[in-house]
Amino acid sequence: MDGIKIIGTGSALPDKVLTNADLEKMVDTSDEWITTRTGIKERRIADKSTATSDLAVRAARSAIENAKIDSSEIDLIIVATVTPDMFFPSVGCIVQEALCAKNAAAFDLSAACSGFIYGLSVAKSFLENSQYSTILLIGAEALSKFTDWTDRGTCVLFGDGAGAVILRKQKTESAILSVYLGSDGGSKDILCMPGGGSRNPISEDIIKKNLHHIKMAGNEVFKLAVQKMLEASDNALEMAGVKCSELSLVIPHQANIRIIEALVKRMKVPIDKVFLNIHKYGNMSAATTVIGLDEANRSGRIQEGDLVELVAFGAGLTWAAAVIRW
Ligand code: ACO
Repeated sequence: MDGIKIIGTGSALPDKVLTNADLEKMVDTSDEWITTRTGIKERRIADKSTATSDLAVRAARSAIENAKIDSSEIDLIIVATVTPDMFFPSVGCIVQEALCAKNAAAFDLSAACSGFIYGLSVAKSFLENSQYSTILLIGAEALSKFTDWTDRGTCVLFGDGAGAVILRKQKTESAILSVYLGSDGGSKDILCMPGGGSRNPISEDIIKKNLHHIKMAGNEVFKLAVQKMLEASDNALEMAGVKCSELSLVIPHQANIRIIEALVKRMKVPIDKVFLNIHKYGNMSAATTVIGLDEANRSGRIQEGDLVELVAFGAGLTWAAAVIRW
């Protein structure tokens, strides 16, 4: 039967580890506060010379190797990111050149932390409705470059990284059973980076006002995150005709351990069926769920035939969930 199979996964993380103890020396915070309020112990930070595309290319190479394909077989490259190297060209095109993926079209997609799952939906549509049969989908971020390192309310939360999957249309029982997407621009101001775009082009004044960094009303985001991820999960499960109890693994967006615990309690999923890496990496926006998928795949936590759900929430606001038969 024709289906869609994830034939390879990969990820890439910067070498530099920034611990909570390091942050204690930078802002008025403590390991105890960060650990109890967020679950984060450390995060990876890209060095000066590393941009989002560098991490994306490394993750892509790892997925290509895992899939045992040649880059010339890739028909389309989609990069989910809110921290591109520059406005244009896209990270997708930079990746296309680096991989010598000479037969691939390429573009970027912006849906913040939900970006990888939005990308799954786009890839699924292309595979079902076009001539494309092999797609490289990447979630990649260098959030540290846009973090205000004097704001303790945000700088403890984010990290850098990239993950990638190769999706292929082929005879298989594997499938992307459903993808549910949602958005609410009415709440756009609670999580944003106001400066540097066409609304507030970069200038001395914009920098003086500190508008070129990530701004977040953490409390408001927290409440909506649980509510909207639950809605996304319920809808994706219903669309797939799958009961929550049938899931082998849930890979939620890793923004805050308390958000994850509140979500899975409402879903009635035991915590041992929930993939967690927040303690190591913090929130890597669009890279988070796909790095989780890669780590779960490589460590054998996902086996052929397993039902896996990805669920995420991010700036926009956006929210999304996908049910995959592995
Ligand atoms: N260290 C010590 N104290 C801190 C820190 C810190 N790093 N950060 C904030 N505080 C203080 C605040 O100043 C406040 O002090 P006050 O009471 O004297 O004013 C106190 O701690 C409580 O602050 P809250 O913001 O109410 O703390 P809360 O328990 O809500 O935790 C947090 C804050 C961790 C940001 C939480 O709200 C959260 O995780 N929100 C969701 C973030 C999220 O999900 N983002 C997702 C998307 S990201 C994307 O799309 C790019």
